[in-house]
Amino acid sequence: MNFQANSPHARDAAHHLHPYTNMADNEANGPHIFSRGEGIYVYDDDGKKYIEGLAGLWCASLGFSEKRLVEAATKQMEVLPFYHNFAGKSCEPTIELADYLVKHAPCEDMAKVFFTNSGSEANDTQVKIVWYYNNVMGRPEKKKIFARTGAYHGITLAAASMTGLQYAHNAFDVPIKNIMHTTCPHHYHHAEPDESEEAFAQRCADDLEAQIIEEGPETCAAFIAEPFLGAGGVIMPPKGYFEAIQKVLDKYDMLLIVDEVISGFWRTGDRFASETFNLKPDLMTMAKALSAAYLPIGGVMISKKISDVINQGSMKYGLFGTGYTYSGHPVPAAVAVETQKIYDEMNMGAHVKATSVRFQERLKQLGEHPMVGEARGIGLIGGIELVKDKADKINFDPAHKVAPWCVAKLTELGMIARPMINDSIGLCPPLIITDSQVDDMFDILDQAVDITHKEYVSTL
Ligand SMILES: Cc1ncc(COP(=O)(O)O)c(C=O)c1O
Repeated sequence: MNFQANSPHARDAAHHLHPYTNMADNEANGPHIFSRGEGIYVYDDDGKKYIEGLAGLWCASLGFSEKRLVEAATKQMEVLPFYHNFAGKSCEPTIELADYLVKHAPCEDMAKVFFTNSGSEANDTQVKIVWYYNNVMGRPEKKKIFARTGAYHGITLAAASMTGLQYAHNAFDVPIKNIMHTTCPHHYHHAEPDESEEAFAQRCADDLEAQIIEEGPETCAAFIAEPFLGAGGVIMPPKGYFEAIQKVLDKYDMLLIVDEVISGFWRTGDRFASETFNLKPDLMTMAKALSAAYLPIGGVMISKKISDVINQGSMKYGLFGTGYTYSGHPVPAAVAVETQKIYDEMNMGAHVKATSVRFQERLKQLGEHPMVGEARGIGLIGGIELVKDKADKINFDPAHKVAPWCVAKLTELGMIARPMINDSIGLCPPLIITDSQVDDMFDILDQAVDITHKEYVSTL
């Protein structure tokens, strides 16, 4: 493509190393530049309007023009634009946020929150805390952490290792030591013919137990899971899955880390999906909708059991030697506190439960299309999987890039969504979406899927 000299496209292509981008393509074709947002919509530099069907990266829960969050940030910037939380120092918004989160935790025995700038940093911290915990407990060999194939936990070294998607491992020399992967709980693809969800769930738990026995239970420390797999294709847990897994973890004295980075803060209609799926995390990760994505902040919430051991660790080793310069930065913390106030005032749980009726209805209808193998979701999140053969659940050859073609069509029609593995497309609009906007979104989706089927897939 010929860029105008010194245009933003030319400068981006020349000088911006993008996250998760095919850099050869970006250098040849330049970026798609976005200029402003309003409600659930974003506008590009040509002024074209799009429904943000993925809330950016599953995060802009309050859309793109919430003035109260701008005011909360401005107010905090004027009073105390930065202070840190090292060495026993603290900041008022950070204290308020930690207190609010623990008081609204999905289970009663949660005690403390450690703040980070992102979900990845939070999951890396989870690994460090689990290792620290077992060292203080005098079991230095108990270190292995099990994640699932298809999971997404981020991209810092330990988080990328726990991520179970090939594209996050290619050429990066991960996974690191002590991170293992176990069965992806996707019933649609991995169940035997006629295997019930419950039987498949039990088989996943049996697989985990067999791996633990093979590795040696004394070396196995924790299991990490998203309540539903997000970037791995929006995959719901089969019935009975977490109950069966929890039994295995209890049997071998292993901790449960629940990654609520996408699912937290009302996405399912509950504040945390741990409530939706009745999970009892020992450690929980959050980010994204914590601050509605207006400023970067993530966190690790730990139970009293872990917190007590960390206190013992301080007696043994001195300070708890981990933290980021911006851990608990007062400005994102103030924005996160205001975000929680907005959710509460809007009664976000009730809003999501009401709107998700239409969302899930339209998703299910889209699932009837001959090219949609599975339509799955909960609350205001969903995924569709485009398949070559619906009866036999056969995917397209990945080289044909069917979902990327469909997503490009969606973009043309005014909606942004995300192609994922197995030609899945992720849907996760801002939580403020209304019923009629849900209809607009699915009208576009119906059209794009149909055009992909008729104009592209028919030519393959
Ligand atoms: C479940 C989950 N965990 C962790 C992360 C990583 O978060 P971040 O991109 O803020 O580092 C993501 C990002 O999408 C995620 O979906």
